[in-house]
Order: sequence, then structure tokens, then C-alpha cells
Amino acid sequence: MIVKIPQPGISYKITVGHGLLPSVGEMIASTAATPPRKAALVTNRRVYGLYGDIVEAGVKAAGIDIFPVLIPDGEKGKSFRVLQAVLNSFSEHSISRTDAVIALGGGVVGDLAGVAASLHLRGVPYYQVPTTLLAMIDSSVGGKTGINSPYGKNLIGSFYQPNAVIADIGALATLPKREITAGFMEAVKQAALSGTPMLERTAELSEHYRKLGREMFNDNVLSVPATDLILENIRFKTSVVRSDERESVVETGSRSRKTLNFGHTYGHALEKATQYRYLKHGEAVGWGLLFAATLSKKLEFLASDELNLLNDVVRGFGRLPDISNIPINSILDSVLHDKKVIDGDIQWILLNGIGKPVIVSGRQVPGKMLEQTHRQITASR
Ligand SMILES: NC(=O)c1ccc[n+]([C@@H]2O[C@H](COP(=O)([O-])OP(=O)(O)OC[C@H]3O[C@@H](n4cnc5c(N)ncnc54)[C@H](O)[C@@H]3O)[C@@H](O)[C@H]2O)c1
Ligand SMILES: [Zn+2]
Repeated sequence: MIVKIPQPGISYKITVGHGLLPSVGEMIASTAATPPRKAALVTNRRVYGLYGDIVEAGVKAAGIDIFPVLIPDGEKGKSFRVLQAVLNSFSEHSISRTDAVIALGGGVVGDLAGVAASLHLRGVPYYQVPTTLLAMIDSSVGGKTGINSPYGKNLIGSFYQPNAVIADIGALATLPKREITAGFMEAVKQAALSGTPMLERTAELSEHYRKLGREMFNDNVLSVPATDLILENIRFKTSVVRSDERESVVETGSRSRKTLNFGHTYGHALEKATQYRYLKHGEAVGWGLLFAATLSKKLEFLASDELNLLNDVVRGFGRLPDISNIPINSILDSVLHDKKVIDGDIQWILLNGIGKPVIVSGRQVPGKMLEQTHRQITASR
């Protein structure tokens, strides 16, 4: 699949399939205008332990020297301190503008490696090799890179496109179940924004997953429905990103990149109210989808059967952690301080039917209704 961004000269290939990790080196060598002599493999210990050897062997076989750059696991990896260490390592190994940075891992590795690649020598080629579901369908697509600051998550970063994305679905077989559920929540989000056919296909995949578990990713035939849905998600996200690459502040139409924030206003508030320790991002988004859909129903945008379908799909991918003990005031406070608040006004992404996102001003949504919605979704689980 080739993705084109509406800027002269920017297009890159996204490849999704089973058993691709051994060919990463070959794919890089055939993509680069000047074949790289050296590659920095940015990853963490866990992923390096699982897949480092296989990627390194293929890269060396393609005639490219490779050295690992290990970063801490988890959000700690997206810090200034780590960024500086990674940049130093690129300089120590004299990574040049014809060499390569390979990001092997989840969204943390991809985001950090992307910032580093965009800054080293004002930009060196970088290749995303996502190994989590969330990274395959979401963070590796769209060109946003970022690190966290003491003032908040993802506040520092750049728009920087990779030279290629290579997603090997086989890697998902070792991903912890909670991470799989969390990743699927972003897929449910995109399906709900896309339309009923995609949401129904997502519901079918959830049944397949309930029967086979993550073992399905190990098999090149059983993993086909997942590969297809991942591709559909990538196509969907690129179509939104293509129409609004830099997330215009003024754009509020149904193709605005802001619509990808569906489920995220409440989701971010849950993460913040629990100090980012209790929920995985995708799990918070799962709750956020239920919240935004229920709110859409209360405002008479969404029909009951549409809400039920969305509820079923969210449930279909596994349990979300209980949130009934989180004080509602701390959640609503966080909603009001969301970074997407523009001029003091929250912009809710709601559904005027499946596949029909609308951006609604917070002024149109009574505070009481937010409370009722919270109580309703926590009571129904
Ligand atoms: N740039 C964007 O557009 C964008 C979009 C969404 C999210 N993000 C960012 O992505 C990050 C979250 O990404 P994530 O959910 O991939 O989390 P993550 O990168 O922390 O990975 C989750 C966990 O899975 C482990 N792991 C990764 N691959 C594995 C595998 N194949 N087998 C076993 N374990 C594996 C990781 O070591 C980690 O412990 C956040 O920092 C978020 O801000 C960025
Ligand atoms: Zn998200």
C-alpha cells in the first residue's frame, strides 16, 4: 500500500503482512534512494529481546551495519533525557543523511525515534517497524512524532513522515492481552467514524479473536482477517490525515483530523484523573467511546441500535478496567483542561449516526448531562 501526503515529493509505502521482520533490511535497501551504510535500531529491551536478532540478521544480510539504541520501556522513554541520549548515540556512530533510523516497537519507540530522526542533522531517513496493534493502526500512520514534557503528554514534537512503514502482524502474538484490547479500541474508534460496514467487520474480527486469542496472529492464514482490518484502519487514518495533515485549528468538518479525537476527551480525562498509571491509553479510549456514544444518544444524534452495536463491539475485545471508583469531579475537571480546549471551549466529537462525526461545542452540552452519562456507562458494565 502506497500512501501519498499532499506535499511535493512525500509518499511512502506501508506494508502489512505476516513474517516480514526478516525482510526489513531488504525492504529498506530497496526503498532508499542511496542505500544506507548504517542503521540505528531504536527499540527497548523487551522488544529487542524478542525481535532484535531477527531484524538485525536481515539488515546485515542486506549489507547494512546495524547497532541497537535501547530506550526505557513505557512513557519514560518519551523524555528529553532519553532524546538527548539517543541523539548522542546517532552522533557517536556518525549516522549520516543517507543512513537510516529504524524504530522497532510500539508507539513510544516510534514517537521518540521519530523526533530524534527529525532533529539529527535536521532530518535523517527513518523507518517504522511497529510491533503493537496501536502502533500499526494509529501511531505509525500520519507523521506525528512526540515526547512528553513536565507540562503534559506529547507537548513537544514535529510532523515528520517515515520513509516506509513495515508492520509484521506475527509480532502481535507476543503482545500482552491488555495491550491487544487497548489497540483494538482505536480500531473501534476508526470504524465508528468510518461507517457501519467497517464497524460490522470489526465486530466479526472480535468474534474471531474471542475464539482464537492472540494465537491467531501466529498463523499466516488465521491472521488474514486481522491483517485486512489493520489495512482498512491504515487506509481510513491516511484518508483523514491526507485531507488535514497538520490538524487545522479552524477545520471543523467531518473530515477534520480532530474527529480522530472521538472518545479521547473523556479518555484523556480518565488517564489524567488516575495519573496515567491505572489505564492503558486504549482502555481509556474504550471508555471514552462509550461515553461519547452515550452522550450522542442523549443529544438525540445517535439511534439506540447504533449505540448498542458500538457497545457490543467495545465489549467484544475484552474487559476494560473498572472506573466506578474514580471521583467524577476529578474526571470532569480534567475534561475542562483537555489540551484540545480552544478559547476555553471544549470541542466534543460526537456521532450524528455511525460514520457521521460532528464537532459540538461544550457550551451546547449541559454539565448535568456529562454527569448522567458518566453514571450511565459505569453502571452498565
Ligand atoms: N504519533 C501518533 O500519532 C500517536 C498516536 C497514538 C498514540 N501515540 C503514542 O503511542 C504511545 C502508545 O503506544 P503503544 O500503545 O504501542 O505503547 P508502548 O509503545 O508503550 O508499547 C506497549 C508495551 O508493549 C511492549 N511491546 C511492544 N511490542 C511488543 C510485542 N510485539 N510483544 C510484546 N511486547 C511488546 C512494549 O515494550 C510496552 O511495554 C503513547 O506514547 C502515545 O502517546 C502516538
Ligand atoms: Zn488514541
